[in-house]
Amino acid sequence: MKIFNRYTPLQITIHLYAWSALFWIIFELLTDSFSINPIQELEQRTGRHAITLLVLSLLCTPLNNIFKFPELLKRRRTLGLYTLMYATIHVLIFINLDYGLAWSLIARTVFEKPYIIVGTIAFLLLIPLGVTSFDVWKVRLGKNWKRLHQVVYIIAPLAVLHYIWSKKGDILTLSGDILRPAIYALILTVFLLMRIPAVRKYLASLSTRSLTLPFKKSTQPKADLP
Ligand code: HEM
Repeated sequence: MKIFNRYTPLQITIHLYAWSALFWIIFELLTDSFSINPIQELEQRTGRHAITLLVLSLLCTPLNNIFKFPELLKRRRTLGLYTLMYATIHVLIFINLDYGLAWSLIARTVFEKPYIIVGTIAFLLLIPLGVTSFDVWKVRLGKNWKRLHQVVYIIAPLAVLHYIWSKKGDILTLSGDILRPAIYALILTVFLLMRIPAVRKYLASLSTRSLTLPFKKSTQPKADLP
């Protein structure tokens, strides 16, 4: 099939997964199968898809380190851009459908609800990353490009905090609908711990040890053998 010559299975999977949320939303809107609070459901679904794509984009590097699958590194940009797309839809639903473009009310809500401030900061930080994710900006910004894109390590905890906070539950007692955001927080914590140089070194030594062990065995001097 021609499509498999142009795109890898991973690329196709990512595009299908990314569009699936929008596809289901449109399908359910057309078939009138939304819940009694469609605006809240739209807000929640787009927010969840955005944060899932964000976490997936962050998992590419550690997964490549473990499974040695460099194509994952090439797919970070696509996942990042889909994150921005869903975060933008999420924000537009909030501004337009939820608050009907009532700017003074929006401003008051942003400052009254700390989880919205956190979400807004995450969103504002996400925009320059999306804009500069293209090769032309990589060349233009040089070394600063990598520095700028490390902001994602601030965005991700902010987005998870926004998620947990929006649930109005308690993460310590796991009360409220907090289980799903707690899973995201756990994945993110493990991922961020894996970026600490000492942990990274230890994991790298583990993987090289397990890779070189059979080779080392085969080079044992024959004289040692019975
Ligand atoms: C200007 C920025 C943002 C605003 C105004 C905003 C607004 C909101 C609001 C009002 C809710 C609560 C919906 C409800 O339960 O009634 C919410 C939930 C959520 N938002 Fe945001 N958000 C923003 C940015 C972001 C970003 C950047 C992300 C992720 C990358 C995100 C992910 C989420 C998630 C995961 C939820 C919870 C969904 C659920 O309850 O299952 N938000 N947001």
